[in-house]
Amino acid sequence: MCGIIGFTGGRNAAGVLLDGLAELEYRGYDSAGISCFTRENGIDTVKTVGKVANLRACLPPGLTSSCGIGHTRWATHGGVSQTNAHPHTCGRVTLIHNGIIENYLALREELAQTGRTPVSQTDSEIAAMLIDSLYDGDARAAIRAAAARLEGAYAFCILFADQPGTIWCIRRGSPLVACHCEAGSIIASDMVALLRYSKDYFVLEENQIARLTPDGISLTGPDGMPAFPDYQTVTWDVSSAQKNGFKHYMEKEIHEQPEALSRTITPRILKYQENGSVFTLPDFSADCIPDSVFRDLTRIVITACGTAMHAGMMGKILFERLLRIPVTVDIASEFRYQDPILDKNTLVITVSQSGETADTLAALRLARSAGGRTLSIVNVKGSSIARESEHVFYTHAGPEIAVASTKAYTAQLAAFYLIAFRAAFACGRLSAAECSARAEGLLSMIPSIHRILEMKEITEKISRHLTRASDLFFIGRGMDYALSCEGSIKLKEISYIHSEAYAAGELKHGTLSLITADVPVIALATQHDVLSKMVSNIKEVRARGAFVILVTAADAVIEESQYDYRIDLPSMDDWFAPFAAAVILQLIAYHTSYLRGLDVDQPRNLAKSVTVE
Ligand code: G6P
Repeated sequence: MCGIIGFTGGRNAAGVLLDGLAELEYRGYDSAGISCFTRENGIDTVKTVGKVANLRACLPPGLTSSCGIGHTRWATHGGVSQTNAHPHTCGRVTLIHNGIIENYLALREELAQTGRTPVSQTDSEIAAMLIDSLYDGDARAAIRAAAARLEGAYAFCILFADQPGTIWCIRRGSPLVACHCEAGSIIASDMVALLRYSKDYFVLEENQIARLTPDGISLTGPDGMPAFPDYQTVTWDVSSAQKNGFKHYMEKEIHEQPEALSRTITPRILKYQENGSVFTLPDFSADCIPDSVFRDLTRIVITACGTAMHAGMMGKILFERLLRIPVTVDIASEFRYQDPILDKNTLVITVSQSGETADTLAALRLARSAGGRTLSIVNVKGSSIARESEHVFYTHAGPEIAVASTKAYTAQLAAFYLIAFRAAFACGRLSAAECSARAEGLLSMIPSIHRILEMKEITEKISRHLTRASDLFFIGRGMDYALSCEGSIKLKEISYIHSEAYAAGELKHGTLSLITADVPVIALATQHDVLSKMVSNIKEVRARGAFVILVTAADAVIEESQYDYRIDLPSMDDWFAPFAAAVILQLIAYHTSYLRGLDVDQPRNLAKSVTVE
């Protein structure tokens, strides 16, 4: 939620900030603004409603500065307006904020006594007022004192009018990464904004204060003592975060799935010899995840938000089938307030692409404090969830920029398959030979994704039909139901067509009344064990006139009269069909959004990284 960036150094700050904001725009895009130190006016602020491109168009051509801060907003407190856009200025303080200040109303009343009145409806402006009220020339002391008063989550970049060339930063609960490089000192919400300047970066620790000058970055810990950055290096380059000839990031990310899956799966499947036989087994030694994490478990709890939670639904099916222990999947925003009963024999698995989702992070913290074992499946290295979890399984999907998650989802599925196989082996539920066969099945699924990616014509044709719908349903059973949930959210978030996922057997208990000839049904029937049941459910909707799009196994025998379109999966073990079917649903969602003329990568009202509750 909200992207922030600060730069001080030897380049034109406005250019650095605008380029960085364009990279961060996936975090929010309802308004944007920058503030820069200029020789003439002290601090110049330009802000506008709309996207970063609007801001770029509004900037005075001669704006030259070597130090500034920039923000792209996803509104929480206060509507979308120029006044509510960041940066906010109060007295000598100009700041940008990512997060939510929960006690801003009480602070606003208190600050009114000092004659400070906000002009916006934002919580962020109150933070600027508070810091200004505490500032007597010692920026670090003012920030520290303000932090002690602020409740909620924040990452701030702050300019003090009497300290040109310097940016001050602090974070609690919201991400900030930084680097000092040849261009100068840069700080941002996400590494993607730094990548064109440096592959080396560090994560600002919670409650550390950073002071950026053109010559370097100095850090102080919460105890006031100097702290030192722990630099890491990204393994991908700037082109991974660009469109590379595709029309949209989403299209590119859909097509990157074979590589993303291969990077996630292949290095974790190792050859292993026993009594003259060679096995290929999932192995997490390089991830430092010992088998003891999976032994003596009585329960697994999976918690996440959005698409990551849908991956967790597949994880539940896999674990229950293989480990024969109860598994629950909880939406993180619910789990965190449910007072869950956890103990050392419960494994809590949190799943997150960004590793920064506020509710998932809170769920993880709760799990740790309640005594559960914790394992996180995370895509972004060094993110908060990765850093706070006892064990981390990184998906190597690479940077995902489109708001609609695609390659991160299938990489999360791959993570669950690998973990379930290894856990079952570690607990003696799968023999080495059985585990080996499963692992090989997973590996051999990867090439089939290339074949799905060639299905442009049929998926586009289907999408053309869907563009006219105002409601539709996804139905499936078991793994196909878990996948229906993901297919449905994918389609609705970018096409704005209302859609619901339903367990196919449940439709007749109420929802069937909504099925008419105008309501298309996407029926997933990839699992042979429930195929005959699915066929009956398809007949039920067909009998009510539904337009049926069927995704199924090539050998499934289903009368032609029961569907309008049929997509056959490449022949593969049913266990791995969700990967192939997921990509088909992503393509359908993508084409539908594009054909409706919508903003595929940045759908209205949404943001990719949800760092607020
Ligand atoms: C947002 C994104 C979704 C994502 C969810 C969880 O809503 O738009 O695509 O699934 O957050 O994000 P995470 O980073 O925790 O996977």
